Amino acid sequence: MRKVFVIFVLGCLFSGCARKTEAEIFVDDLMGRMTLREKLGQMSQFVPQTGVVTGPEGEPVDLDALIKAGEVGSILNVKTPQEIESLQRLAVDSSRLGIPILFGHDVIHGCNVLFPINLASSCSWDMDAIRKSAELAAAEAAAMGIAWTFSPMCDVSADPRWGRVSEGAGEDPYLGAKIAAAMVEGYQGKDLSDSSSILACVKHFAAYGAPEAGRDYNTVDMSERMFRDRYLPPYKAAIEAGAATVMTSFNDFNAIPASANEWLLKKLLKEELGFEGFVVSDYKAVTELIAHGVAADAKEAAFKALRAHLDMEMVTGTYLNHGEDLVSEGLISEASIDEMCRRILLVKYELGLFDDPFRYGGAQRYAMAINSQAAFEHSRKLARESMVLLKNENDVLPLDSGEKIALIGPFASTPRAMIGSWTAFRDYDRTVTIEEGFNARFPSRVSVVQGCDVFTPVDGGISDAVRAARNADVAVLVLGFHGHLSGEAASVTSVELPQCQKDLLAAVKKVGKPVVVLLTTGRPMALESVIDDIDALLLVWHPGTEGGNAVADLVSGDHSPSGHLTMCFPRCDGQIPIRYNHKNTGRPATGIGLKSFDNISKSFQSCYLLTPNSPLYSFGYGLSYTTFEYNNFEMPKALDKD
Ligand code: NOJ
Repeated sequence: MRKVFVIFVLGCLFSGCARKTEAEIFVDDLMGRMTLREKLGQMSQFVPQTGVVTGPEGEPVDLDALIKAGEVGSILNVKTPQEIESLQRLAVDSSRLGIPILFGHDVIHGCNVLFPINLASSCSWDMDAIRKSAELAAAEAAAMGIAWTFSPMCDVSADPRWGRVSEGAGEDPYLGAKIAAAMVEGYQGKDLSDSSSILACVKHFAAYGAPEAGRDYNTVDMSERMFRDRYLPPYKAAIEAGAATVMTSFNDFNAIPASANEWLLKKLLKEELGFEGFVVSDYKAVTELIAHGVAADAKEAAFKALRAHLDMEMVTGTYLNHGEDLVSEGLISEASIDEMCRRILLVKYELGLFDDPFRYGGAQRYAMAINSQAAFEHSRKLARESMVLLKNENDVLPLDSGEKIALIGPFASTPRAMIGSWTAFRDYDRTVTIEEGFNARFPSRVSVVQGCDVFTPVDGGISDAVRAARNADVAVLVLGFHGHLSGEAASVTSVELPQCQKDLLAAVKKVGKPVVVLLTTGRPMALESVIDDIDALLLVWHPGTEGGNAVADLVSGDHSPSGHLTMCFPRCDGQIPIRYNHKNTGRPATGIGLKSFDNISKSFQSCYLLTPNSPLYSFGYGLSYTTFEYNNFEMPKALDKD
């Protein structure tokens, strides 16, 4: 194919089309030889039946037949590098034009070696470390044959009921923008044609983090001003950093589902923001236009998505099934199909897939790149930087040397609690649990007791825990939520600790030994009802493959905690949504509405009765093992108003 291309370029140089880039000339030539159906095929992404499941089950497709017919532009969720290679071989050798397939996967917080969940790493506020984690993830993914990750998630959210806060960078648009850009730079590197660079995907466009009542996929209705001010900046920053792809969100946005929303995709994204890459729908989001109530059937869904300039459809195949009819009926012009297909082929060109469809993957490269020492070391470092010390009465932490530790709770020994959601390739055998991390750092000093399950008591659990605490110098409880209780389709109505964990904590506290809580969670939790039972509280999140070691690094004092919250921790569920940068209102609160119901005299302020407006721990909060003193403040000249 390359030879034909060189002859074509020379031809063009002499015939006056020299101003086109090499890529454009190549793609124009290729498209000149493609049928409408083949173009629609490039605009279609499928998932193999044996693939990783990241969405609801759908109609099975004969993937091999589609590939041979040249009707598959991209595949997501293939499980192994060997399968990727053989599907690519089929496309290149057996389809008419041999156009390589783009393989995508959710490499969200690492690939094989997992880093802390994204909300956690945002608490490091360390752009270099975050960029590096994306770079290391890209190197592993590329070695597996994956050329495209569906990350970074740029959805700002102030609602911890929404499970997907775990995948984002918290509630602040400015910080979110910095992190989004750093991740794009990490994944895509300096040049997309570098074989360790993979495509980033800005998602979920747009405002997916503001669903009504924190319920996943729910309606978003907000003013354009609010959207531009608080939700748009991270998407925009990622696009400005050069992200090559964007994914639509599931929600409707001001009454029109994102995947059919011309204002969002065509006007804002492509025209105003000048996005030159391509847009992919989220999983089945095109056929979901029917349930949204804006399309009567699959054909109308395809029409509305194409009309909105949604370039690639994920999974459902309606472009392929109905695109030709829509063009022949004059509803969609072939020119606009060309425009969308061209975007996809240009990205494939930039990646170098036409030069070498097998530039990603390969057994030798796999063996060298997967599970590198550098990735494990970085995972441990970033995990340490992500953890947030929220309370430390009487300097209970770091532990004194020689102290005997009762390690208690449902998450002390489970790898899954270290990992969190999005773990397609994780290797549980390599995941360091807190028990393992403690045993390595505090040999012969740790006794481990489960105490209770996540949501239910276990027989004798509390008495075992109390006994262990009595026999130790300090009780360390690992409490919180499972890794899979956050992420997609994991909204909750309460972010309080489950009752059995509260009971365990209260019983251990009564023993009278210092109580340390290590909180594993993918979302902010409401802890006011238990905070008095806790002497030291270290938020460890889901810290990744090296989690247990990183926790031990901090608990031992080998390193000092340095993370700061990027989402408020509410006092109780009723304060949600809660953010530090809320607006003042015309009646700002100076205190709480009522101290008790015995004395009813209302303040007529914007506040709650009995509960303060402030969170228990605000955005930016985080302690360390030392104290800081600030003095001799000076106002920089630039801010010094006359
Ligand atoms: C649905 C999720 O919303 C999205 O984030 C993910 O990338 C796709 N599924 C593909 O797995």
